[in-house]
Amino acid sequence: MVARTPTTHLSQSPLSLDHQATTPCAPEVVEAMAPYWKEHWGNPSSRQHRLGLSASAAVNLARQQLNKSLALRHSSLVFTSGATEANNLALLGRARHHGQSGHLISVSTEHHAVLDPLRQLQREGFRVTLLSPGGDGLITADQLRTALEPDTFLVSVMAANNEIGILQPLQALAALCRERGISFHSDAAQAFGNMPLEPERLGLDLVSLSAHKIYGPKGIGALVIRDGERLSPLLWGGGQQDGLRPGTLPTPLIMGFAAAASLAVSDLEQSRARRSTLRNKLWEGLQHRVPGVLMNGAAEPRLPHNLNITIPGLNGRRLHQALRSKLICSSGSACSRGEPSHVLQALGRSRADAEASLRLSLGRDTTETDIDRTIELISEVAFSLR
Ligand SMILES: Cc1ncc(COP(=O)(O)O)c(C=O)c1O
Repeated sequence: MVARTPTTHLSQSPLSLDHQATTPCAPEVVEAMAPYWKEHWGNPSSRQHRLGLSASAAVNLARQQLNKSLALRHSSLVFTSGATEANNLALLGRARHHGQSGHLISVSTEHHAVLDPLRQLQREGFRVTLLSPGGDGLITADQLRTALEPDTFLVSVMAANNEIGILQPLQALAALCRERGISFHSDAAQAFGNMPLEPERLGLDLVSLSAHKIYGPKGIGALVIRDGERLSPLLWGGGQQDGLRPGTLPTPLIMGFAAAASLAVSDLEQSRARRSTLRNKLWEGLQHRVPGVLMNGAAEPRLPHNLNITIPGLNGRRLHQALRSKLICSSGSACSRGEPSHVLQALGRSRADAEASLRLSLGRDTTETDIDRTIELISEVAFSLR
């Protein structure tokens, strides 16, 4: 039986400002994937016949496109099911190759897809230090330097925060690690395609990527691995991708990922400028119309499409309930399991204020009218709940 698409909610088409949770597939992406479902449906590992060879050639082409989008010359890409798996491969894979103990450093405001594998490593005997950012969400090279221990072998700091959109000073942090021979990993699921990201120029050894944040398909991502970095696999099987991530490669998803990346990178400056202008207008409007509204995280450096606000004194549950039918946004990460944001609490917001917060993330198609409507909606709801 064919699964049917649920139509509830979508038929009323509320305004969507939740593009950091995910994005729709761009038409160009759907087009790039199309031939690989029914026409060139071979297994890229079947090199004995034309069907397999054409799939394999497509995957090679996609790799080249992605290498170009990321300006990679001394790194390779391992395809994964998304950034969650890429983070797991980077952290668990690097640690298990290192040995059975040692010290890792990360940040308390990372996504659960980094924090949870780190917790697993603690259970396995590794030590983990989580740095606490300042009220602006940023950490500094001095903080990292102070936390280093003689046996620190891996540091993981996300490029752009999924909730508050701030950009961490990757280059300075990575340089510190490079001097000491420590591997540096960055979860760039939110950054890639939304800000310039050249892992090698930034000095990154391991970088996690996801396609569905940049108008690509869900279920595909990659780990960028700088030449010389050694990882142990998490899965064992048919030996694909040099045994590091076995399993039949999903050709259509890979083609979609490469197309989405090329599209995002080719239009990066324009799309950043357009979205940040709209985002700034949103913030200005909210400041005028919602007394006491606070921005979470530093205003800059920040992703162009993110605004995270707290409306102190409002009941978070009622705020979200009142907005639900008209505005799609979130109170934090899509993967936060309904708990008040650990990111906002790490920045010093109370639990109640963290609940009375909205992550508003703009998309490529967000218009000025959408922004005006959002300001109107949020200010009306805030007024009525007060
Ligand atoms: C920063 C960050 N890391 C990891 C993930 C997980 O990515 P994926 O859905 O590709 O597994 C997300 C998605 O919400 C994210 O925002």
